Amino acid sequence: MGLDDLLKNVQIAAIVCNQLGDTGKGKFSYYFASHWANVTARGTGGNNAGHTVIVNGKEKIFHLLPTGIVNDSKGQVTIMGNGMVIDLAALLNELKELEQEGKSYNNLMISKDAHVIMPYHVFYDRKKDQSQKAGGIGTTGRGIGPAYSDKIARRGITIGDLFNVDGLAKKVDRSLEYYPDSKKDRDEIISSLTLQSNKIKPFFRNTVSEMHRFVREGKKILLEGAQGLLLSIEHGTYPYVTSSDCSLNGTASGVGLSAKMIDLPLGIIKFPFMTRVGAGAFPSELGGNASEIYCAEEGHGKLDELKKYCIPSVVENGKIIYDKRHRKIINMMNSRDEFIQGVGIRLAAGEYGATTGRPRRVGWIDAVAAKYAVGINGPLFVLTKVDAVDSLDEFKVCYGYSNKEGLHQNFSKDDGFLRTVSPQYNNYGAYFDVSSIRDYIKLPRSLKGAIYDFENFTGGRVVIVSVGADREETIVR
Ligand code: IMP
Repeated sequence: MGLDDLLKNVQIAAIVCNQLGDTGKGKFSYYFASHWANVTARGTGGNNAGHTVIVNGKEKIFHLLPTGIVNDSKGQVTIMGNGMVIDLAALLNELKELEQEGKSYNNLMISKDAHVIMPYHVFYDRKKDQSQKAGGIGTTGRGIGPAYSDKIARRGITIGDLFNVDGLAKKVDRSLEYYPDSKKDRDEIISSLTLQSNKIKPFFRNTVSEMHRFVREGKKILLEGAQGLLLSIEHGTYPYVTSSDCSLNGTASGVGLSAKMIDLPLGIIKFPFMTRVGAGAFPSELGGNASEIYCAEEGHGKLDELKKYCIPSVVENGKIIYDKRHRKIINMMNSRDEFIQGVGIRLAAGEYGATTGRPRRVGWIDAVAAKYAVGINGPLFVLTKVDAVDSLDEFKVCYGYSNKEGLHQNFSKDDGFLRTVSPQYNNYGAYFDVSSIRDYIKLPRSLKGAIYDFENFTGGRVVIVSVGADREETIVR
């Protein structure tokens, strides 16, 4: 069976993350967008996201635009939905990059109802969240939280507001009352907003009614999630979350649809390890507290870690190139020191922020959290990055949390609770290089055994296993 079989009779598909973001949604969004969809839409978040896709063998990172934009020349429509928050300067940069690559974006639609991230939102986000060590969330510093706060407090500025010049000045004045430090820049803010809004005017739409028209016309629609369920403002490990509801429901509502209309809701899960960026509980983290503190500090980016652990690397066109299967990395991955094991997995899997370059905290897959995700995002799982850690001598899956009250096998988003429990694991043996496998039956026994247990425990069903970054490196079950 191939991906096309999976998409038979599907009109609306959604790709959301069941963990903490960075699970490889981009690969599937790009595949569905280029092979199947007529419309690709994003409904939540802003340029805090970083979707990495491989286009013609080259890595490309999208922060704001849905990945379907690369098929614009084929008439594919790309929607930035009502639930998004948009930094106009970041958007214009992304569009400029497309222009430089000779790509069009004529079929882009930007919701009149999306909110604008103002310069003072960015300033305030950075100032408030400066130190993760001092209890900050460790945000991406892109102004996401303040922009959504203004939306909820009903003083936000929408894309639609930008085109009502008199009204805009009043709205900016009202908003600025809450950001006294920025008042002096008022005229500058309004004039640069006016310049920017003129550039995006051709794309400004009532995207909700456009979306409803596409549904009526039977167009194939792909909803592209951002971040991940455990970072959702509704369902994540509050307050260590982002400020949008990046669940399946939030993603659908962020483009004006009901989640009930989604025929194929896919929840992406990194397996058998997972990652977290920024602060917040992570019971199965390798190296525990020490890893959380270390990853929050400056100076532990990819190049720093390669140097520190004496792993040869070169920088070509700004890209760091190294052998992810270097003997030293494999030794680290199998170290008895969990902190070092975490660094080894981070290096082997290239787990550094696409948006910020920060090292991602690394731990074992948490089946308790995945069971929780089934209840919210549905039972269909896509496992990714399985190939990235195939040099492990053994791997673990967390099936419960224990504390003095006993064993807990249901997730709680309570940060305090998650920080006091000890993860309970099942261990699984080594597996070999899986990148050339295309048939589920041929996967190594230990991996299939772990997936079997994982499905039984969570109630989910693995429909796709990703064994590499290329679209061909995919097993459809
Ligand atoms: P914000 O979305 O910038 O406000 O950041 C809030 C939290 O969500 C921080 O812990 C970020 O590291 C995390 N976060 C936001 N976007 C992403 C993402 O795309 N991947 C992983 N973590 C993210």
